[in-house]
Amino acid sequence: MSVPLIKLNNGIEIPSIGLGTWQSSPEEVIAAVAYALKEAGYRHVDCAWGYNNEKEVGEGIRQSGVPRSEIFITSKVWGTYHNRVEEALDETLANLGTSYLDLYLIHWPVALNPNGNHPAFPTLPNGLRDVVHSWKLSDTWKQMEALVKKGKVKSIGISNFSVKKMEEILPSAEIIPAVNQLELHPYNPQHELLAYCRAKGIVPEAYSPLGSTNSPLLKDDVVVKIAEKHSVQPSDVLLGWLVAHNIVALPKSVTPSRILSNLTGTLTALKKLQKEDIAELDGLAASGKQKRFIMPPWPVDLGFDNWTAPMPQPKPTTD
Ligand SMILES: NC(=O)c1ccc[n+]([C@@H]2O[C@H](COP(=O)([O-])OP(=O)(O)OC[C@H]3O[C@@H](n4cnc5c(N)ncnc54)[C@H](OP(=O)(O)O)[C@@H]3O)[C@@H](O)[C@H]2O)c1
Repeated sequence: MSVPLIKLNNGIEIPSIGLGTWQSSPEEVIAAVAYALKEAGYRHVDCAWGYNNEKEVGEGIRQSGVPRSEIFITSKVWGTYHNRVEEALDETLANLGTSYLDLYLIHWPVALNPNGNHPAFPTLPNGLRDVVHSWKLSDTWKQMEALVKKGKVKSIGISNFSVKKMEEILPSAEIIPAVNQLELHPYNPQHELLAYCRAKGIVPEAYSPLGSTNSPLLKDDVVVKIAEKHSVQPSDVLLGWLVAHNIVALPKSVTPSRILSNLTGTLTALKKLQKEDIAELDGLAASGKQKRFIMPPWPVDLGFDNWTAPMPQPKPTTD
């Protein structure tokens, strides 16, 4: 059984299942990546400068022995680098030990102060994250486009972009983003946002496809019922539902048995899931279970539906 490929708007194909690496500790991620590539058959790894483990991901890739040309590698530019995207890419390439990326994304549509009090999470004296509110995302996108022209990345895309944020870059874009990486699972299906992406030729990628750490989705009664009906695991149902919708799924695990089943089980579920199962999962959020798990305290309105975390408020400061 091979992993289905999804064609991007530039003709390049992306494997529909990739290994996530956020919160994989540097100690664990070498073995996880090597196992995923060498033993489990993955050919796609989702990384980010902001995960603080790209050197070890690169080491895992090398230890797998799988040729670079057979692996689809994604990374992301962090907010403190929006004014120097190529510098961020060069750090990532050096960390991973590769000369190019298959896909490079803007991690969040939020530019952070590059000269602030922390290299990744600068804050103001009032405690809020130090955002450069005047920065234009279209200027970040221009730098992303230049990297394609230079041949350092094959495709470029975005992550955590709502319609409102996409409309800040699309009117002046020379290259339409190949993907938008979003929190997607049956509790947060974002049907309207996905319809907008598809209309523009932007492939959706699902992060936190299992609902992230300690996910209630794996115990959801509907998910468990469908899993039992087809003799598969709840995780297989969640991932199979995404791939059935032509959404790239990026499950993270550092546990070999889960790394393997997140690929093989998904392919089994993909064959077994019936139209009515998919329709029931499609309607789960609207039936009262809508929930986002990833809502960092950005002091910015990102324009997403169902972003229920309160906008962070400045702490009183004394002068
Ligand atoms: N663009 C962004 O802003 C953004 C944000 C979040 C995530 N991401 C990407 O998306 C990837 C996935 O998201 P995520 O890490 O938040 O969450 P996830 O993949 O939904 O869930 C990961 C959690 O589920 C566990 N798990 C994995 N497979 C399992 C299985 N078959 N059965 C039961 N539990 C299982 C993992 O544990 P073990 O590891 O202990 O096995 C881990 O605790 C990230 O790693 C990252 O690459 C991107």
